[in-house]
Amino acid sequence: MRDKYDWAGKPSTDSAAVMQQYDEMAPTYDATLLQDWGYRAPAVAADLLARHVGLNSTVLDVGCGTGLTGGELKRVGFATVHGTDISQPSLEAAANKRVYESLVRANLMEPLPFADDSFDAALCVGVLSYITGDGLFRELCRIVRAGGVLVLSHRTDLVVQREFGKLLAQLAAEGLWRSVETSTNLPYLPGHPDFGTQIEVQFFILKVL
Ligand SMILES: C[S@@+](CC[C@H](N)C(=O)[O-])C[C@H]1O[C@@H](n2cnc3c(N)ncnc32)[C@H](O)[C@@H]1O
Repeated sequence: MRDKYDWAGKPSTDSAAVMQQYDEMAPTYDATLLQDWGYRAPAVAADLLARHVGLNSTVLDVGCGTGLTGGELKRVGFATVHGTDISQPSLEAAANKRVYESLVRANLMEPLPFADDSFDAALCVGVLSYITGDGLFRELCRIVRAGGVLVLSHRTDLVVQREFGKLLAQLAAEGLWRSVETSTNLPYLPGHPDFGTQIEVQFFILKVL
């Protein structure tokens, strides 16, 4: 049986619809994702980032939701973590974890409310399914300083369907970033009946130029 939001289907890129989904899910998100579906992407992303930047880096968790990635960044030892998301109830859940220096409500499909070179690194975990175009990536390259690092996760089926490799190459050709490492395909939501081993996740580590 499909879950209410058909997670494994074609994700909506309508920001208002996505916001409503995550507003509704906020109270149950952590238990559903971690316990029921075996979601480990936040932990994997935090461990990956720690291999590429110092723990004194100022990090932005992009699409932080209820703060799972912030919690993992703290576990790894990052001291200064900021977060942004469109869902206010999710941001409130994230605030309750007390791991973020600041939390800012923003739509990732619009220019981001951060100055140039504000961060040493940014992670975007479990979010790109809901994002169209290349605007977010250009914004990340603007707000993360040159030499900083991005860690992006993307569903393996959407990497293919949306030709994510072309986007990576396009921004590299423009001199915005350089690919540092791409993970193998890893389990995404192994406990979700529609994901299983059919839909996995890949992590992309990029250096901002
Ligand atoms: C699957 S959750 C991932 C949350 C968190 N990164 C994690 O791994 O647990 C997707 C998150 O992306 C956020 N999101 C989706 N589209 C967005 C948009 N256009 N602007 C800001 N946040 C967005 C949702 O509100 C939600 O919190």
